[in-house]
Amino acid sequence: MIKIRTFKKSDTKGIIKLWKACFNYYTSPHNKPETSLKIKLKHKDGLLFVAVDGSEVIGSVLSGFDGHRGWIYSMAVTPGQRTQGLGSRLLKHAEKELKKRGAPKINLQVMPDNKAVVEFYEKNGYKVEPRISMGKRLK
Ligand SMILES: CC(C)(COP(=O)(O)OP(=O)(O)OC[C@H]1O[C@@H](n2cnc3c(N)ncnc32)[C@H](O)[C@@H]1OP(=O)(O)O)[C@@H](O)C(=O)NCCC(=O)NCCS
Repeated sequence: MIKIRTFKKSDTKGIIKLWKACFNYYTSPHNKPETSLKIKLKHKDGLLFVAVDGSEVIGSVLSGFDGHRGWIYSMAVTPGQRTQGLGSRLLKHAEKELKKRGAPKINLQVMPDNKAVVEFYEKNGYKVEPRISMGKRLK
């Protein structure tokens, strides 16, 4: 049976394998799965969730609450399990947990070469908003 729960240390290998299979941007050093995971776990907010089938990690959503907005990253379902509702289940789980922590709204970003996924988020109630996304790397 597929279960959605908070990430455990024993999921480490599985989640890294999943992210490598699902995201091409993990080839850049600052997005290395091992690094992203280490930083997230240090934060100890309990907001990294996985979908597991037995001990196999088949989905993930990395969420966070910065005190103003909830954020969603690393939304992934293993290729063989897609379009059966698992991505939406994971997303709803993260939404519920963010709401519990007081987040009034969730933001997320979609890479320009992944526009098709906008439909997935729209089907889950998200809207494209007119914003310019900016960033600065902190050394
Ligand atoms: C995005 C992703 C997590 C969706 O997972 P999923 O389990 O297939 O999602 P669901 O089955 O809950 O889909 C819900 C709806 O969205 C649609 N949908 C899902 N992925 C879609 C996509 N990439 N493009 C268009 N529609 C999509 C489904 O067809 C479904 O429609 P329906 O309700 O009419 O049947 C999965 O496709 C994935 O891992 N993609 C690669 C990683 C990625 O791009 N993540 C997002 C980064 S921003």
